[in-house]
Amino acid sequence: MKTTPKRYLVTSALPYANGPVHIGHLAGVYIPADIYSRYLRLRGRDVVFVGGSDEHGVPITIKARQQGCTPQQVVDKYHEMIKKSFEDFGISFDVYSRTSSEIHHKTASDFFKKLYDEGKLVEKTSEQYYDEEAGQFLADRYIVGVCPKCGNEKAYGDQCERCGSTLSPTELINPRSNISGSKLELRETSHWYLPLDKYEPWLKQWILEEHKEWKPNVYGQCKSWLDGGLQPRAVSRDLDWGVQIPVEGAQGKVLYVWFDAPIGYISNTIERLPDSWEKYWKSEDTTMVHFIGKDNIVFHCIVFPCMLKAHGGFVLPDNVPANEFLNLENDKISTSAGWAVWLHEYLEEFPGKQDVLRYVLCANAPETKDNNFTWRDFQDRNNSELVAILGNFVNRAMVLTQKYFAGTVPQPGALADIDRETLAEMKAVRPKVEECLENFRFREALREAMGLARTGNKYLAETEPWKTIKTDEERTKTILNVALQISASLAIVMEPFIPFTSEKLRKILNADSATLTWEALGGEAVLPVGHQLGEPVLLFDKVEDDAINSQLKKLEEAKKRRDAQSYRAKPQKERCSMEDFQKMDIRIVKILEAEKVPKSKNLIKMLVDTGFDRRTVVSGVAEHFDPQTLTGRQATMLVNLAPRTIMGVESQGMILYAEGCDGKLHLVQPSGDGEVKSGSPLS
Ligand code: MF3
Ligand code: ZN
Repeated sequence: MKTTPKRYLVTSALPYANGPVHIGHLAGVYIPADIYSRYLRLRGRDVVFVGGSDEHGVPITIKARQQGCTPQQVVDKYHEMIKKSFEDFGISFDVYSRTSSEIHHKTASDFFKKLYDEGKLVEKTSEQYYDEEAGQFLADRYIVGVCPKCGNEKAYGDQCERCGSTLSPTELINPRSNISGSKLELRETSHWYLPLDKYEPWLKQWILEEHKEWKPNVYGQCKSWLDGGLQPRAVSRDLDWGVQIPVEGAQGKVLYVWFDAPIGYISNTIERLPDSWEKYWKSEDTTMVHFIGKDNIVFHCIVFPCMLKAHGGFVLPDNVPANEFLNLENDKISTSAGWAVWLHEYLEEFPGKQDVLRYVLCANAPETKDNNFTWRDFQDRNNSELVAILGNFVNRAMVLTQKYFAGTVPQPGALADIDRETLAEMKAVRPKVEECLENFRFREALREAMGLARTGNKYLAETEPWKTIKTDEERTKTILNVALQISASLAIVMEPFIPFTSEKLRKILNADSATLTWEALGGEAVLPVGHQLGEPVLLFDKVEDDAINSQLKKLEEAKKRRDAQSYRAKPQKERCSMEDFQKMDIRIVKILEAEKVPKSKNLIKMLVDTGFDRRTVVSGVAEHFDPQTLTGRQATMLVNLAPRTIMGVESQGMILYAEGCDGKLHLVQPSGDGEVKSGSPLS
């Protein structure tokens, strides 16, 4: 049993440096990790909060190929971007480094070498697909072929997305490279494996017996892996981007990215604390906590602990409070589909509003199930919680004190029941918030903290100091003293969650963090009588509908682009003969008038100039066009189609439309140099 831990090692998943970070990353990993680290520091505990970029792996090499640059250039760009986003959002890493660093290459390489030298890895030869054109072995995801189960022509080497079955590349019919498109050849290659099966009994004891307190989603996933039985896992890859395998004859082989990346936690600690890192990583009285998303559970609860165990000498994680996923407007966040809110863009569009996002993402964190971010909820929480409760309360306490007592903390008199009850509620916040934070329940912790602002608001509404001032100055002094002490406690308790606001509040109160310590939280005389307050400024301002609408519009555009990307043309119809085609008389025409057919849902009646006559046509396109916008435009029409009567109107021909990938219809019009007059035939 551990006694009060002497020090903490807090890690947060290293994001892949192949794209910017978005709200899903923040909500799932970095906000909880930051809240936890800030809280521990406030409690005076010894903490190292480790982050960094994960810069290896196949997707980065693919991205480099697509962009015509080197993998190093790709990671240089995104590492800087990601690092800056985290800084901007106040993620208080003690170190944020990267796995392409020299120290990491050395650390990861030494780690492997020790396991290799001690015979803890197993070498096996197998046949894998080789892409001759690209000159490399391919990762499963980059092999495509026909699914043996459902016939899908674009199944991946690891999975068919149509029927959902798990595949191995050798099961695919007619496998091809998704990089070069060329045919593949099976070649022998050898790799080193970590025999996870050998660690199974130990893992079962360590996780299933000794860590029953882990979150149910984490424990459950571990249990199902362990129940299913573990297999040896390859820790090397045939690739030219990554940490070289430090063994003779291993040219062209690197460590598998999931082997080197978690070692990045160690390397980054070494980089930051070259002389004292071992104190954190190698002593039993360290508590190590990994903050990750649910897709990382197996690596942090099973694979990395086995690596650490095999190596020996390192601490193991005490907890892995993994989160579920955050969706965006009811759809899965997807980097490649552009369905995300990128942090750097958010800050351009909502400058200075880091804490609003931090607040919303924590209040709505996917702690126990997948959750949804919507811009309406963002607006609501800002306007009706941050502005209307927290901001409003502090502002009222400040402005009234300014007005009645020249901005100094007034002397309280005898306490009334309501004062005593309110102070008791204030006192109760600290143990509740502590209990939640120690147990990784961040949403609840924030709700408790926010509860204090609610208490304050209610207190002012009930005691009405703006009325008592007219009759009873002494009473008013007591009320505002209480309200200011609550404000001081709010500055303390909000620090882990919304640190920028906390800082602003300290300025407003003219008190620094030496006064507003965690121990002071809940205290009745944190701000001494006579203390001169600072200038009252608003903590938050309203988010207007316009700002929200423009975000929704932006997403709608992303969706259109995504649909366009995934658009698949329909297969060709049965062949027709030249005679068939020549029977059709297709002309360029001009729409002279257009109006909705009365009482119909979808019909538009048009008067058309065909160049040789004028006639009426009816199209079922009212969902797609406003009739006014059709008037005066050119179109393409099948003029010799047999007339048909639709809702009492005879349609003498058919206007042709092109269907966009979003299902919307477009007029087909001539383009190019020179004018095409009405009546011109298509040939
Ligand atoms: N890059 C991985 C991801 O985004 C996480 C790596 S975590 C580490 O899913 F432990 F390997 F660093
Ligand atoms: Zn299939």
